[in-house]
Amino acid sequence: PASGTDSGAKRIFTGRLIHSKSLKHLEIIPHGAIGVETDGSIAFVETRHASPEEVKARYAADGFADAQIIKLTRSQFLFPGMIDTHLHAPQWPNLALGMEGTLQEWCEGWTDPVEASYSDNDKARRVYADVTKTTLSLGSTTVAYNSSIHPEATNILADCALAAGQRAIVGKMCITVGSTHGNWEDSAEVSIADSEKSIKHIRKIDPKGRLVHPCIQPRGGPYCPPKLMKALGDQCEEYQTYVQAHMCETQSDIDRTLDMHPNYSCYSDMYLASGLLNSRSILAHCIHLQPKDIENIAASGAGVAHNPNSNTCLRDGECRVRDLLDHGVKVGLGTDCSAGYMPSIHDAMRCASNVSRHLALKADDGKYVLGFTEIVWLATMGGAQVVGMDDKIGNFQKGKKFDALLIDVEGVISADPLLWKEGDGDGEAMLKKWVFLGDRSSIKKVYVDGKLVAGQDTKA
Ligand code: GUN
Ligand code: FE
Repeated sequence: PASGTDSGAKRIFTGRLIHSKSLKHLEIIPHGAIGVETDGSIAFVETRHASPEEVKARYAADGFADAQIIKLTRSQFLFPGMIDTHLHAPQWPNLALGMEGTLQEWCEGWTDPVEASYSDNDKARRVYADVTKTTLSLGSTTVAYNSSIHPEATNILADCALAAGQRAIVGKMCITVGSTHGNWEDSAEVSIADSEKSIKHIRKIDPKGRLVHPCIQPRGGPYCPPKLMKALGDQCEEYQTYVQAHMCETQSDIDRTLDMHPNYSCYSDMYLASGLLNSRSILAHCIHLQPKDIENIAASGAGVAHNPNSNTCLRDGECRVRDLLDHGVKVGLGTDCSAGYMPSIHDAMRCASNVSRHLALKADDGKYVLGFTEIVWLATMGGAQVVGMDDKIGNFQKGKKFDALLIDVEGVISADPLLWKEGDGDGEAMLKKWVFLGDRSSIKKVYVDGKLVAGQDTKA
């Protein structure tokens, strides 16, 4: 394991650093250093090869002369914390179950019953403690969570994220129609009032928005009639919150939406007119888009959560990530658990790579293939843009927060010690071995806001 401790003192991490500078530029620093302030922010990123003592001396004026040193071994590297832009916390017990149906069959057969069960606060406490702890251990330092229609359970989810030390966006799910198994609210008034309860709770437990942020959460077009949709848009404006919603997941999803909202000719026009399409909106899926939808998303500054595992399991289709990126749309990766079975953005990188290759085959156009540096970007900086925090997280920069993973490739399948033994080592090959072949045991330490919050080497 890496030597050194992880208390609240100033720290310097020395060793290999790997992060995205841009969509096409992965920076690999074989012998670097990162200084972390007591408040969890990054004081410096040093790219020059130097001994820990030299780094201490170099940053003595910034108070790092007596900093703790955490020296990575040659098989280790620091990687930015990953960002899950779409996960349904209440669906957690259904992971890996119910993958037979299409979207609507799955929603009615699996999702509605499990989500309806969160009137039970004890269940919410039990499940949400596990969700936040597990996703952190899998490297998701930030998660945009969908919840259920229950304000108390939603507040418990926010409490759990804060207690676990995870960065999170949390909202109460709003549904008054189109659902089954009692998974709906009695009226728009109830839905809006309960949504407000969760916004107020989250603003109370984390008043400065250090980690947890509220959001407005219309499940999607088929589930919220025009009056409710508009009222949620007004609530978003009043409280200046994030928005999380599904969009253009299947043709049936679009047809049901336009039936429910007959004044519009495309899905995004409906969100736009309701006040729900803006730079704080996170739109899940965006697979079957009309040209007008892409224009609306790009003009509004909204972000897209691409959920390749879920889209495969439900046979929704393939999101045309390249077209979105070419239009300047922000794109990140989501697990969409439990439609996706794996709550790991590490795994979502692999799925995004595979799905992009299937899309390239289907479209007979190689431009749709997502390259290695691109999937790394989507998992980190792309996600940070989608959750509106790219000034704060997503890569290693002075002034950003230290949200980071300490990865060790020793023991990863086919990761021969020659990769790291000689000279500077082959950092790019190490990263590729980890991305495609590593498992959770390779994630040794997980830091959020400078605090050690999870990982194999965490003594909790
Ligand atoms: N559309 C409406 N609800 C859901 C959900 O829970 N997951 C997915 N993937 N799509 C949805
Ligand atoms: Fe979803």
